[in-house]
Amino acid sequence: MTFKELCESRYSVRGYTAEAVSPDQLAYILECARLAPSAVNRQPWHFHVVSSAEGRAALQSCYDRPWFRTAPLYIVCCIRHGQAWVRPADGKGHGDIDIAIATEHICLAAAEQGLGTCWVCNFDARRCCELLHLPENEEPAVLIPLGHPDPAAHKAKQRKAIEEIVTRR
Ligand SMILES: Cc1cc2nc3c(=O)[nH]c(=O)nc-3n(C[C@H](O)[C@H](O)[C@H](O)COP(=O)(O)O)c2cc1C
Repeated sequence: MTFKELCESRYSVRGYTAEAVSPDQLAYILECARLAPSAVNRQPWHFHVVSSAEGRAALQSCYDRPWFRTAPLYIVCCIRHGQAWVRPADGKGHGDIDIAIATEHICLAAAEQGLGTCWVCNFDARRCCELLHLPENEEPAVLIPLGHPDPAAHKAKQRKAIEEIVTRR
């Protein structure tokens, strides 16, 4: 599979089968997150793999959607504040950028394995901190449900035309 084919194959999977994710597949996906680049190589992140019944129920209460409940496991992608690089010129923290890159590594690695994911940011982050007992310096930035896609949930991509998003100077 070319990289373009991988990009085409990844889509937001909003429905999963009951089949479990194998430990090897999960380890492969987490390794791909570990290899992501970050500003000044700070790696200001932590990933919580949630597969227990209690953990899943807690996350499902932070993002109450029927499709979200079908995922066999979740990866909570957290920014570790205080570890991310801050640009001296203007004080811009780079944790959001770093976690986004690592999170997309997860999604693309999962797609390569034939697994599905969906970025979820529209969740109750405060509740997530409380229920997962996250440390003070950890911000849950993205919830990633991970599992085998339910074919019935497949959705074609819609994208702007290249001319609309690229300016050549
Ligand atoms: C930063 C970010 C936040 C997102 N949050 C949500 C979300 O809370 N719930 C959801 O169902 N999809 C969410 N999505 C998925 C987008 O809706 C999806 O990527 C977009 O519609 C393009 O579709 P595709 O991923 O299938 O190519 C999010 C995506 C990104 C990148």
